[in-house]
Amino acid sequence: MHAFRVHEVGEPGEVLRLESVDPPRPGPGQVLVRVRAAAVNFPDALLCRGTYQSKPPLPFTPGLELSAEVAELGDGVTGVGVGDRVLGTTELPTGAFAEYALMSADTLFPAPASLSDEEAASLFIGYQTGWFALHRRAGLRSGETVLVHAAAGGVGSAAVQLAKAAGARVIGVVGGPEKAKVAAGLGADTVVDRNTEDFVAVTKELTEGRGADIVFDPVGGDSFTRSTKCIAFEGRIVIIGFASGTIPQPALNHALVKNYSLLGLHWGLYRQRAPELIGQAHLRLTELAEQGLVKPLVSERLGRAELADGVQRLADGATVGRLVFLPAR
Ligand SMILES: NC(=O)c1ccc[n+]([C@@H]2O[C@H](COP(=O)([O-])OP(=O)(O)OC[C@H]3O[C@@H](n4cnc5c(N)ncnc54)[C@H](OP(=O)(O)O)[C@@H]3O)[C@@H](O)[C@H]2O)c1
Repeated sequence: MHAFRVHEVGEPGEVLRLESVDPPRPGPGQVLVRVRAAAVNFPDALLCRGTYQSKPPLPFTPGLELSAEVAELGDGVTGVGVGDRVLGTTELPTGAFAEYALMSADTLFPAPASLSDEEAASLFIGYQTGWFALHRRAGLRSGETVLVHAAAGGVGSAAVQLAKAAGARVIGVVGGPEKAKVAAGLGADTVVDRNTEDFVAVTKELTEGRGADIVFDPVGGDSFTRSTKCIAFEGRIVIIGFASGTIPQPALNHALVKNYSLLGLHWGLYRQRAPELIGQAHLRLTELAEQGLVKPLVSERLGRAELADGVQRLADGATVGRLVFLPAR
């Protein structure tokens, strides 16, 4: 089969190499799947660079998230059959930037019939992260104001749709006019271009000085630091990631004097600690997809010739929505 493999870590555009290799064999509890579509996530770029929290042995195939068809069951696998259309995450080092990949049987889920393969591939990591951030960690209530950073990006676009579906008012912060159009199309009530406008001033004005009840922050750096200037009394800042490359060092006395909460979210940890919550969230996300309230924003379909460049552009912050790799192309 064809598979992209990383032999030495570095910039995604340089280290993702297309090779011909044998398909992997499913071990006990694993499932071999034929990849229909693989969504590209920021952590795929971090994996290529060797800066992700988990470091698979070299050479490895990145590609954390996919929709796929079950091809072969490992020993002891029940509840899923050959030919089933599924979605979820892969088991590295045999990721989804390949014709076949391995998944763990306990972290794959039925792909909603209402979504295309490309959309289904994008319903898992971003939407689960958005769901856990807004509902489980931040306890979002209808009518609250949610400020979403990188609102046209992968997890950000999901957070915008999920916050709207829950009855929130959404302020989306983006870098540039093209991304601003995308965030508005996703349903953000107000969009702020961080290159030309000050999101702190806009948020204060819109909320009559109160500030945002929830900040969804996948960016870190200045985006985080400035968010503390427009967080409401009893507001919640959910720390999702550091796409800016800078991990802020907040002054905790500020959280104390303003009565706001800093909430960390490492969605992947729920797979180990409370996997039943992931299944429950998937059911809710499937319902929302079937009602048309969430629809993953697939902005680019990448063939083999385009994948490495696409992952590089994602790493550079130059993409919107989800890029999806189609191994058959
Ligand atoms: N905590 C969790 O469980 C969890 C789960 C999934 C993902 N994440 C994290 O969430 C973050 C976003 O992931 P994603 O796949 O959805 O990516 P993405 O949002 O599609 O891309 C990152 C976005 O961040 C913004 N950004 C601001 N400064 C940047 C810089 N210096 N370099 C690159 N981007 C910059 C850009 O949007 P603007 O130009 O519009 O600002 C860019 O499009 C990553 O840090 C990822 O690791 C965390």
